[in-house]
Amino acid sequence: MIVTIDGPAGAGKSSAARALAQRLGFAFLDTGAMYRAVTLAALRGSCDRADQTALAQLMAGLRLDMPPGKVVLNGEDVTGLIRTPEITAASGAIASSPVVRQQLVAWQRQIAAGGDFVCEGRDQGTIVFPDALCKFFLFADPTERARRRHRELSARGDTISFDEVLKAQDERDARDAARDIAPMIPAHDAIRFDTTSCTLEQVVERMEQEVRTRIAARHPLPPAPPPDKPPANALTWMETSWFRLWHETCYVAYFATMTLGFSLRIQGQHNMPKHGPALLIANHQSFLDPILCGLAARRPMVYLARKTLFKNRYAAAIIRSLNAVPIDQEGVGKEGIRTILDQLKLGKAVVVYPEGERTPHGKMQALKPGIHLLIKRAQAPIVPVGIAGAFDAMPRWAWLPTPAPLFWPAAKGTLSISLGQPLEARLYAEMPRERALQELFEKINAEQQRAEQLRRR
Ligand code: DC
Repeated sequence: MIVTIDGPAGAGKSSAARALAQRLGFAFLDTGAMYRAVTLAALRGSCDRADQTALAQLMAGLRLDMPPGKVVLNGEDVTGLIRTPEITAASGAIASSPVVRQQLVAWQRQIAAGGDFVCEGRDQGTIVFPDALCKFFLFADPTERARRRHRELSARGDTISFDEVLKAQDERDARDAARDIAPMIPAHDAIRFDTTSCTLEQVVERMEQEVRTRIAARHPLPPAPPPDKPPANALTWMETSWFRLWHETCYVAYFATMTLGFSLRIQGQHNMPKHGPALLIANHQSFLDPILCGLAARRPMVYLARKTLFKNRYAAAIIRSLNAVPIDQEGVGKEGIRTILDQLKLGKAVVVYPEGERTPHGKMQALKPGIHLLIKRAQAPIVPVGIAGAFDAMPRWAWLPTPAPLFWPAAKGTLSISLGQPLEARLYAEMPRERALQELFEKINAEQQRAEQLRRR
């Protein structure tokens, strides 16, 4: 997939392109650096930059490699050498040469063929990659661009004045835009973006959103095939009216117990889809968590529980009444993923704890990689859930919870739960795993902070 970023110098293209590529897990191709490298070769060879035959000869004997972050000319690393004002000034004539452009366009297409690239330059969206997934044209107020460039040069120790920078920039803009070949103009389908008063973070954020939306639209997930036969763990009794009665009864009983006994507070219930599949991803503090999730969701939920918890008859009866499906291993292992996908296909809402186990210290732990695998295959909205207070009320080692009754001023360990806005699974499925895990962690963590604030209010 190709994303192109074109526009004049100083509009923030390079930094934005590099950051965007990193966020998307794409490679970054700085095509301006390629024109600069050819300029360096021409200056070194004292080649007449207006003579197309001489330039054609130069190009024929030239090898240009673009490994990440580097520019290698005939085997020599010239990354630093091509950033001088002299090269900048001389590059205009090289960039106007048809033979140079023809060759560089071919190389750029070769480099990016079959890969995921953010390509930055002047003609990437118009000439080089007209079918790019997403095209941006960044521009900014000329004075602001010159100010940025002047700051950059001064930081490098260059003594050039602001006026000189502005003048050179105006000349370059006019020449780039007016040249006959590959003029610097926005592609008709490019998104034009004025960066004058934006921070780099804002620019990258907006571009990333746009790209991810297009990736998701280009790869619609196939509709879920109807299950040919119900999976072995289908909770068919959930469809019966007996179950509904039982669920209502339990709901009222648990709600009363949690509110009166533990001062439970809930927020964000409108974020829970009322029907159809939904995947709740929550932090895991305590055995109380499934109850809290069930109360917050306001609809029957499916939970996964270790088989060992079903050993005791009474415990088994209680957790079965909460629609617990027994699995060998807690968390999002292979078996858990299969079970969850089966339940989602049946249109159920499932709670999963991506940390894999209850926290041993009250703080959130890193998410297990299995959650990314699950999200890649889950065709359901994901609701981030934060739970607070459950660790204080019933930590891992406790057999019974310590109540914190309503209207009891000295009570500590009150409970709260917060449901966040549903997330689109596809966006996280397309991200590299580490990034997806980090972002999902942050979403759950943010909800936990909200729950914590609610609890202390
Ligand atoms: O973006 P830059 O300043 O590094 O670009 C160096 C020169 O190359 C500049 O004169 C514009 C030109 N260029 C071009 O004509 N087409 C591109 N795709 C990239 C850069």
